[in-house]
Parts: sequence; C-alpha cells; structure tokens
Amino acid sequence: MRSDVTLRQLDEDLLRDLLDVAVAEADPHEVMPPVAGPAGWTAERRTAFLRFHQSRSLSADPVEATYVIVVGDAVVGAARLCPLEGAKRAVEAGVWIGRSYRGSGVGGAVLSHLLTLACADGFDSLFLSTTPDNTASQRLLSALGVDVVHEGDAVTAWVDLIAAR
Ligand SMILES: CC(C)(COP(=O)(O)OP(=O)(O)OC[C@H]1O[C@@H](n2cnc3c(N)ncnc32)[C@H](O)[C@@H]1OP(=O)(O)O)[C@@H](O)C(=O)NCCC(=O)NCCS
Repeated sequence: MRSDVTLRQLDEDLLRDLLDVAVAEADPHEVMPPVAGPAGWTAERRTAFLRFHQSRSLSADPVEATYVIVVGDAVVGAARLCPLEGAKRAVEAGVWIGRSYRGSGVGGAVLSHLLTLACADGFDSLFLSTTPDNTASQRLLSALGVDVVHEGDAVTAWVDLIAAR
C-alpha cells in the first residue's frame, strides 16, 4: 500500500484548496450533489461546493467528517465518513480523487485510512456504495474480502469493523 497518502481533517483553508482541485481535476457530478444550470464549474456550482462542505462538515453541528486527501504535499481529493441515521454505530464512507491521481493506488490507501478512522471513532460497521459502471470502486470493494451486493443501479458492501478490531 502507498505510504505517501494521508488524510487531513477539512478546515476553511483546505476547503479552498479542495475546490481548486475539484475544478481542475474532477467533474461536478463526481464530487457534489447536482446543481441546476449549464454544464461545468459555473460560479453557482463553486459556491454550492463550498456551502455543501461548510454546512455538512464545518458547521457547529456537523453531519459528517470530511478529510482532504494529501499525496506528498499535494491536495488530491476528499474522503468522508457519514454516520448513518437509523443504523446503530454504522458509518458510510465516500471518496473522490482528482483525475491525474486516479489509478495509482491512492484510493486503496484512502480506504484503508477510512477503515482505521471509523474503527477508532467506535463505529461497528462501514457501508460503501457505488454504481455498476464504476470499475475502480468495485475493485476496491472486492479487495476488502466482504460480500459485494449488486442490486439494480447499486453495488454495495458492508464491512464488519468489530471483526476487524
Ligand atoms: C473510484 C476512485 C476513488 C478509485 O480510486 P483510485 O485511486 O483511482 O483507485 P486505485 O488506484 O487504488 O485502484 C483500485 C483498483 O481499481 C483498479 N482501477 C483503477 N482505475 C481503474 C479504471 N479506470 N478502470 C478499471 N480499473 C481501475 C485498480 O487496478 C485497482 O484494482 P486492483 O487493486 O484489483 O489492481 C477514483 O477513481 C475516483 O475518485 N473516481 C471518481 C469519483 C468516484 O467514482 N468516486 C467513487 C464514487 S462511489
């Protein structure tokens, strides 16, 4: 596994760096919920990206923890852990990485860090989901050695963190 990949808790300064990476290296639909309007990184989408993270992770009452992915000294993407409502001590993980860093083992290292963080935070299980066309994500799920469920447009997996402790 790559040893040059670290996660840093998001703050306002890192959020500006993260927006720069998202604009230069990712499509909006890969990194944020849909925003109406013309395609691409419009001013509205850039503002929505900042507000999305500020409201979810940087508010007084955050609903998820967001981490900036750093390779060496470079910010290259984001990862998140979002506690699942209604599921006791379960957390959902999500990741996006900038184009020029994809396919070089960063995703695998990030997932390993997220599993460690979720364990340390006291969660008992971790949920992952992707789509049938996302081969890289599915390979990450398969590598975990857990059951991967294909159902309609969703590919999902649960990781038992109690067993992993
Ligand atoms: C999905 C994503 C997080 C994976 O991270 P990554 O750093 O590219 O993945 P890795 O380099 O660690 O590779 C993981 C596995 O996928 C494979 N892989 C990577 N890119 C691939 C591609 N384009 N096509 C097929 N397989 C690919 C790797 O060979 C590896 O498989 P292996 O371990 O069996 O050899 C990253 O590609 C990404 O951010 N994509 C855009 C946003 C996204 O799809 N996020 C996830 C939403 S569920």
